[in-house]
Amino acid sequence: MTNRMKLIWLTLITLSLPLLFTNASSTAQGSVAVGELIQEEGWQLVRDNCTECHSSQIIVQNSGNREVWKSRIKWMQSSQGLGELGPELEGSILDYLTSNYGQKTASRRQALPIHLMPSTPNL
Ligand code: HEC
Repeated sequence: MTNRMKLIWLTLITLSLPLLFTNASSTAQGSVAVGELIQEEGWQLVRDNCTECHSSQIIVQNSGNREVWKSRIKWMQSSQGLGELGPELEGSILDYLTSNYGQKTASRRQALPIHLMPSTPNL
């Protein structure tokens, strides 16, 4: 191989290296985009039954134990037009929600002491 050929090969290889890395990072496992459901067992049930009226964002930003999630489903059924899911489907959806979006020990910081709050006009 002539020196000129070697140089051309080297240039080609160097230029194509970044392509390898771009591909690797776009198929990385385990990362969840903001607002998307965690892809654990049962997530398709939630995607198929729970994202017709609102996005998954409203689901993933919530959390709670089984009773909390159950009460939200009941609330949507009694006031927002969510249909009956049936015991089996509802059970699987609740399993998914409680294991992936369970009760947090603390979801909000404590309120500021009153003397640190901004003053409220007209009060
Ligand atoms: C028939 C329409 C409909 C379907 C289907 C539906 N929801 Fe909702 N959901 C609503 C509406 C309407 C709201 C109120 C949206 C708002 O506040 O902007 C809501 C709000 C919520 C909230 C927020 C409640 C809160 O306290 O702020 C959660 C969590 C939720 N839905 C979860 C679910 C889950 C889980 C399912 C599937 C079992 C589901 N939704 C299916 C209509 C629906």
